[in-house]
Amino acid sequence: MVVVYRSNTGFTKEYAEMLGRAEKLKVCPLSEAQGRVGPGELIFYMGPLMAGHITGIDQAMKQFAVKGVCGVGMSPASPQVMESLAKANYTNGAPIFYLQGGWAPKKVGWLKRRMVGMATKSMRESLRDKGGRRTPEEDKQLDFLIHGGSHVSFENLKEIQDWMRDA
Ligand SMILES: Cc1cc2nc3c(=O)[nH]c(=O)nc-3n(C[C@H](O)[C@H](O)[C@H](O)COP(=O)(O)O)c2cc1C
Repeated sequence: MVVVYRSNTGFTKEYAEMLGRAEKLKVCPLSEAQGRVGPGELIFYMGPLMAGHITGIDQAMKQFAVKGVCGVGMSPASPQVMESLAKANYTNGAPIFYLQGGWAPKKVGWLKRRMVGMATKSMRESLRDKGGRRTPEEDKQLDFLIHGGSHVSFENLKEIQDWMRDA
């Protein structure tokens, strides 16, 4: 199996390379995969979330034998995230995983920054309104939404590694 990924600001790339190292798998960006993935070779596709859609998944599904898929987003993992991923992404029955990556507002253009700003507005406002009543955890959450940060961690890969070993 080959880990094929797309990444705009680097978080998905970090996870893909970590996973490749841990599982001793070849890792390759989607843009270079055509020549580097052998015919019929299985791939594990990883891509950043954009409005619930896993970037690049349609191209990956068309070109390769996709065995599993992983979306990388900025929000914490939750049953709701898993449900919306399943609805918004066609994987032909391949399992979908989710990893919390990060948010890098300085690495995206103003329009995308604004789109995310709009999507997180009510959350930011309710955290701001709490003022001094915010817990230290909520302080961190607000800072993450405004300035960005990374939640990439090797521990998050465990579920995918277990699945890869069983598959
Ligand atoms: C336009 C836009 C839309 C996004 N939509 C979502 C989303 O629906 N859900 C989410 O969790 N993260 C969303 N994000 C955040 C990215 O998925 C997150 O920053 C991810 O870690 C980026 O991965 P990358 O560094 O590999 O590009 C969005 C980001 C942008 C710029």
